[in-house]
Amino acid sequence: MISLINLKKNLIVALLILTLAFVEIATNSQIAIADTATTSATATAAEIFSTNCAGCHINGGNIIRRGKNLQQKALKKYGMDSIANISNLVTNGKGIMPAYKARLSEQQIIEVSAYVLSQAETDWK
Ligand code: HEC
Repeated sequence: MISLINLKKNLIVALLILTLAFVEIATNSQIAIADTATTSATATAAEIFSTNCAGCHINGGNIIRRGKNLQQKALKKYGMDSIANISNLVTNGKGIMPAYKARLSEQQIIEVSAYVLSQAETDWK
């Protein structure tokens, strides 16, 4: 009788551990999937930037008009500190800066604009 009760107890403990392990695995794999999504989105925006923008804006600078760089201070000063305003500029171009509406999709323009803002926040480091 005693051994049967013990067996039941052990079984319940084993089931509990299994359940916990399963929850743990499920949670971890969800985090892993979320991580991959974020990383690849960032990589794409970084790629768009290095292909289309870095020629003039390497490291967040501006080789043509030095003051109009992509550092946070300049973006704020010229009202370019929002995704909407950067997207608008990138879409239509301005002065020597070319328009990208024929080269990039709307989605890509939004992504690269968000990338500029996030890089500016960390000083392009
Ligand atoms: C041929 C050089 C060139 C390329 C390529 C270029 N830009 Fe520019 N960019 C400029 C110039 C010049 C200005 C200043 C425009 C003005 O106000 O006369 C500028 C201004 C900007 C500004 C505003 C900066 C501020 O401080 O006001 C942003 C933001 C910007 N560019 C983002 C981009 C992004 C994103 C790309 C790529 C999709 C890009 N640029 C590609 C030359 C370039």
